[in-house]
Amino acid sequence: MNIEHHSFKINNQGHLEIGGLDTVQLAEQFGTPLYVYDVDKIRKNSQGFVKTFTEIGVNAKVSYASKAFSSLAILQVVQEEGLGLDVVSEGELYTAIKADFPPEKIQFHGNNKSIQELEMALDYDVGTIIIDNFHEIRLLEQLTKEKNKQVDVLIRLTPGIESETHRYIMTGNEDSKFGFNVQNGQADEAFKLLYNHSHINLRGIHNHIGSQIFTTESFTLATNILFDVIKKWYEMERFVPEVINLGGGFGIRYTKDDNPLPNEQYVSAIVNKVKEQARQLDIPMPEIWIEPGRSIVGDSAITLYTIGSMKDIEGVRKYAAVDGGMADNIRPALYDARYDAIIANKATKRETETVSVAGKACESGDMLIWDLKVPSVEPDDLLAVFSTGAYGYSMASNYNRLRRPAVVFVENNEATLVVNRESLDDIIKNDLPYIKKK
Ligand code: LLP
Repeated sequence: MNIEHHSFKINNQGHLEIGGLDTVQLAEQFGTPLYVYDVDKIRKNSQGFVKTFTEIGVNAKVSYASKAFSSLAILQVVQEEGLGLDVVSEGELYTAIKADFPPEKIQFHGNNKSIQELEMALDYDVGTIIIDNFHEIRLLEQLTKEKNKQVDVLIRLTPGIESETHRYIMTGNEDSKFGFNVQNGQADEAFKLLYNHSHINLRGIHNHIGSQIFTTESFTLATNILFDVIKKWYEMERFVPEVINLGGGFGIRYTKDDNPLPNEQYVSAIVNKVKEQARQLDIPMPEIWIEPGRSIVGDSAITLYTIGSMKDIEGVRKYAAVDGGMADNIRPALYDARYDAIIANKATKRETETVSVAGKACESGDMLIWDLKVPSVEPDDLLAVFSTGAYGYSMASNYNRLRRPAVVFVENNEATLVVNRESLDDIIKNDLPYIKKK
């Protein structure tokens, strides 16, 4: 059964439950497509990271990478769990400010932050800016001088390693748009500009090697390379990093073929490696920061869809179409991402047929799942897709002028609507009539 690899329950009506609630009732109450988050899972995932650091006994900061899913409600939850926050745009920063997230716990990322974004970060007194490139150094110098402000920064390094993941979500390789390359001297040049700066306080080093990574080796390899750089800068200028931020990227389970390590294992591998390297260099142990997104929210949500039309091509394939698809989850189309799903209203029925789940967008590539084993499916059945909590809603679009779905949080057997379903008026709210100039 497709549910075996996901920790969900089935109630005595044979319906899938999430957070103690019947998915069929949730679909009736809030409509479909619907993102449903189990808040308890988000809390447990967050606590898992924090607890591991505490148990090992190192100073650490776990920040949630809000690109995975940003909304007022999720930021409220991760703040309650004591996490910091990683934002990558004025929109994510604005959401954080509106969610009353303490600015000093926010890190601002991005490979092309605009001057307006940097200004906003300074005006809100964001805790740390992760500097990505020379252009940004110039902008930040200009702004901090104009405003006579000090800002804490980390320098983002590109270690030149290839993590074992999809090319589009690999970020630490030599040929990457992110960060200062270690191998070609860019990182050293940036260090010279930033070290002992009058307004910019270089507190440490950042690195993010990619996403959905299943082994610890890429992390420890990256850490070794960062320490080669630290050693060089230490010998040059006696630079001692206060912080080493090793990014996010810890893999999660989408299907039975995914075998992620427990989050604790990634953390302890990173900590051990940093400890070993700091000892060798005889510098104080730096604070370790991480910024997971997917591993905080990914497995905490499901998406509910209603099955509509079906097309059976004898001897070829049976398609079952749902009322969403690539507009609310672009990942299968963009990364060839795989998902598990079940028919939520027939959760105990034996799987007797194979269907391919199509979206409703006018595009052949709008396929959510190929060859899914299901019990006999018919229109109005409810499909629940697992592990859609990260990079699902946050990457949703209005392609085909589809309305973006609603998002519901469940906790303590209660459901709360936290993002409204878009209305038809939302679809045209930015449109203006064309009044032709004579
Ligand atoms: N830190 C930085 C600098 C990042 O670029 C990212 C993700 C993270 C942290 C969080 O990574 P996570 O723990 O979520 O893997 N849309 C793609 C994933 C893009 C990841 C971008 N950066 C997907 O759907 O798979």
